Amino acid sequence: MYSFEGNRVTRHTGTEFPVFQAPIGLISRADLVGAVSAAGGVGLMETASLPMEEMQAQFDLVRARSNRPFGLHLMIPALASKPEREKRVLDWVLDGRTRFVTTGYGDPTRYIKRIKDAGAITYHQADSLEEALRAEDAGVDGVILGGAEKGGGNSRDNLHSFALLQAARRRIAVPIVAAGGIVDGHGMAAAFALGAERVLMGARFIASKECPWHDNYKQAIVDADRVIAIDMGLALIPQMRAVRNPFAEAVDRGEAGHRKNPYAGEAMKLFYEGRTDLALVGCGESAVLIDEVKPAGDIVRDTVREFWEEIDRLSNLRK
Ligand SMILES: Cc1cc2nc3c(=O)[nH]c(=O)nc-3n(C[C@H](O)[C@H](O)[C@H](O)COP(=O)(O)O)c2cc1C
Repeated sequence: MYSFEGNRVTRHTGTEFPVFQAPIGLISRADLVGAVSAAGGVGLMETASLPMEEMQAQFDLVRARSNRPFGLHLMIPALASKPEREKRVLDWVLDGRTRFVTTGYGDPTRYIKRIKDAGAITYHQADSLEEALRAEDAGVDGVILGGAEKGGGNSRDNLHSFALLQAARRRIAVPIVAAGGIVDGHGMAAAFALGAERVLMGARFIASKECPWHDNYKQAIVDADRVIAIDMGLALIPQMRAVRNPFAEAVDRGEAGHRKNPYAGEAMKLFYEGRTDLALVGCGESAVLIDEVKPAGDIVRDTVREFWEEIDRLSNLRK
């Protein structure tokens, strides 16, 4: 019998499978969140970049698709910089809409009491052991731990997942969700062996049918056989990983783009017009493992099937 019944994260989220879709700004909307959640994973809807009415409409679309659970994500600096909106978003998120709330890119202390008072479970996405320990001390129910190979911003000092997860399992009591470099059930089984109880995937879900970004972005991930880490010098994004292409190499040499946003160029033209020559195609090292664009539900189901195949393969070593 294959089941995740004993898994603490599955109990916390109320979902069937321990697979999270990353709360990436602009893509973590109804189509993607709804597909992941309907397939039994945890869709995470971001709350930083949409007007309130549109957010409610997106929420309703996810609900209309299935009554399976999904989570809401609070990107701390984006909310904290606009106190009026922050209050409206928090009131909205904690108004019985979900039992699962994630936070990221900051100190979760700001929201923990309110989240707990509302009876929700909360996990914080951290990029270092120190940040994860601080979040645990602050009272989160779990941590999402991103290794340095992940996409979407990092620091040069951060550890990669292999050492990071093993160090974390020795010191962290709450459940750990592994993020970075995972695209399938084989990576998931490895992450579980290192101490995680769930995985979160970003680039894998960018290269999904439901991601609203341009096909050229997804194809660049599928075609990628090398990625590059570029120093951005931004407070939240000291370093950005991207597909290694001529634009990225020129940015790295200081000959193209700029360092004012993580994509170093015209991100909207990249996202919606497919101009991979005008901005960094952000992605983690996981891009080199992704070889097709797939429906998000298949990503969840295939990952779980491969996970159990991998567990069986490893168990057979004892025979
Ligand atoms: C292009 C890109 C943009 C990202 N943007 C965000 C973001 O806006 N907010 C956030 O919390 N995480 C963001 N992330 C990080 C993801 O939440 C996640 O930690 C990461 O994608 C995991 O690594 P993987 O891509 O190897 O699976 C981003 C990741 C990528 C690849």
